[in-house]
Amino acid sequence: MTHPVDSSTILEKPLLATLNGVQQKRPPIWIMRQAGRYLAEYREVRARSKSFIDFCYSPDLATEVTLQPIRRFGFDAAILFSDILVVPDALGQGVSFVENEGPRLPPLLVENDLSELKSEIDLDRLAPVFETIGRVKAALPKETTFLGFCGAPWTVASYMIAGKGTPEQAPIRLLAYRNPEYLEKLIERLIQSSIAYLCRQVEAGVDALQIFESFAGALTADGLEQWSIGPIRRMIEGVRLRHPHAKFIVFGRGSGANHVQYALKTGANAVAIDWAVDPAWAASVLQPLKPVQGNLDPLAVVAGGDQMDRRVDAIIEAFSNGPHIFNLGHGIVPETPVTHVERLVKRVRG
Ligand code: CP3
Repeated sequence: MTHPVDSSTILEKPLLATLNGVQQKRPPIWIMRQAGRYLAEYREVRARSKSFIDFCYSPDLATEVTLQPIRRFGFDAAILFSDILVVPDALGQGVSFVENEGPRLPPLLVENDLSELKSEIDLDRLAPVFETIGRVKAALPKETTFLGFCGAPWTVASYMIAGKGTPEQAPIRLLAYRNPEYLEKLIERLIQSSIAYLCRQVEAGVDALQIFESFAGALTADGLEQWSIGPIRRMIEGVRLRHPHAKFIVFGRGSGANHVQYALKTGANAVAIDWAVDPAWAASVLQPLKPVQGNLDPLAVVAGGDQMDRRVDAIIEAFSNGPHIFNLGHGIVPETPVTHVERLVKRVRG
């Protein structure tokens, strides 16, 4: 199935062209968590907001930090500054972020049968996010692709159930065995909410969408289709009912050989891979199916120097026979020196 988009837009935006299967001379580049604490100008803006969730809902601040990495590095894509957990927040499960610890939510209780949640996502609560999208779009250079995003239902549900990040996602995995009917209802709520949310992101002006399945690696082989691939496919189909040309990158982090399933069965236009995947394998198995995004280890950028250059060259070389978007294999970490990112971008651009 092909999804044509306005050809003038594709020609202007190299990363969007790659998503459409067009190979570039050098791969376009962006970095997961590119708006983040490794940037002094991000920390400065972040300090102006009393909470992280307020920050996500402040169009002035969110627009500014979305644009910062574009100004500094000229990345080929901007990613909306927000978080995957605004979806549970807009379903009525209040989300907060504890400094240096991470997200906190009042855990869902099975006996409440989802009565803690709204039946439909409150898109009015997310109005500031759509406002941010409009402002960013108006300010971006014409060659920059604008990415929206959301979390995949399994990953978002794991936070909703545990109320925080958990080692190896034990609470949701146990729930999937003990009470699959309940989990199915929650996942269904998230599929419908995410479709509504992503449609509004497209309508507000993003060019493409990334779906983060950060906990794909926690799934068993038989759980993969039920809890991850199937729900993502339904999200993509749901968005395309309203926006037939919507473009998707799917990131099934830690899914190993199952990255093939994400490439083949979700309807995504491109598949993002984590740093543990061998680029040679991905180039021979995944790239003939879909453009590939990835996959430098974020810690290789912390270390920097010649080893980073060699790894960058090896990744670019491995993917040189087809469409490739250069990225890290997960988000950039706060300890990363900005000079190393400058060197990385220079190296990728050749
Ligand atoms: O620059 C960008 O990538 C855009 C913005 C973005 C953020 N989070 C901002 C953020 C995106 C795309 C996300 C996605 C996200 N959020 C994921 C999926 C990707 C992944 O990392 O696997 C997940 C699992 C979350 C949930 C989340 N948000 C956690 C666990 C944390 C705390 C851990 C941490 O890194 O601090 C956050 C907070 C968060 N989201 C920060 C940023 C820049 C750091 C908080 C701060 O600046 O105070």
